[in-house]
Amino acid sequence: MGANSKLFSYKGYDIPLPLVNLTGGGTNTWDMISEVHMQEYAAYCPIEPDHVVLEPGCGVGRDAISLTKVLSNKGQYIGFDIIKPSIEWCEANITSRYANFTFFYLDIQSQIHNPAGKRKTTQLQLPIKNRSVDRIVLHSVFTHMFEDDITHYLREFRRIEEHNHRVVAHPALLLLNRNLSVRRISRHTKRA
Ligand SMILES: C[S@@+](CC[C@H](N)C(=O)[O-])C[C@H]1O[C@@H](n2cnc3c(N)ncnc32)[C@H](O)[C@@H]1O
Repeated sequence: MGANSKLFSYKGYDIPLPLVNLTGGGTNTWDMISEVHMQEYAAYCPIEPDHVVLEPGCGVGRDAISLTKVLSNKGQYIGFDIIKPSIEWCEANITSRYANFTFFYLDIQSQIHNPAGKRKTTQLQLPIKNRSVDRIVLHSVFTHMFEDDITHYLREFRRIEEHNHRVVAHPALLLLNRNLSVRRISRHTKRA
């Protein structure tokens, strides 16, 4: 990111505007979107302070910044994305303050987010151990993917999530159960 990139000041972080725009929503709705995400996690997959949370497609850390106030230093957050500068920014600015918040880049091809990417989603195995994650959360990520890629991610999620734990993906909001079936629920569905 060039030294002259304009910055968006948010909760003590200066985020390069091009990365804000790639993450989506723009500056006016940035905080409101993060707040809605936190409300959805609380409603559908409550995150406890010592949980291990995975966020595929974390962008430039919108939710990671909010989750620094939810997870304790015994908890862990792992975010990944296919936009290298976003991951580099998250490491330099979030991991540097919260060592239990880590990020990694995947060189996956995407027409919008990583046109020069060399690999396909279906070729990857996430570098995460079996049954090591309590919560998997993703917002506006499957929106950008085709069915085979989504199915591949769901298989990976089943491998790495702890039994009976939860995946929340939005939009639409998807809940994954142990049989790898996906149930769509609307924003207005009450929690069972
Ligand atoms: C609309 S942004 C949402 C970012 C973030 N989830 C949020 O809500 O602030 C979509 C994100 O998905 C990422 N993405 C797209 N395809 C992906 C893939 N195959 N694997 C992981 N991330 C992907 C993009 O790079 C981008 O950061």
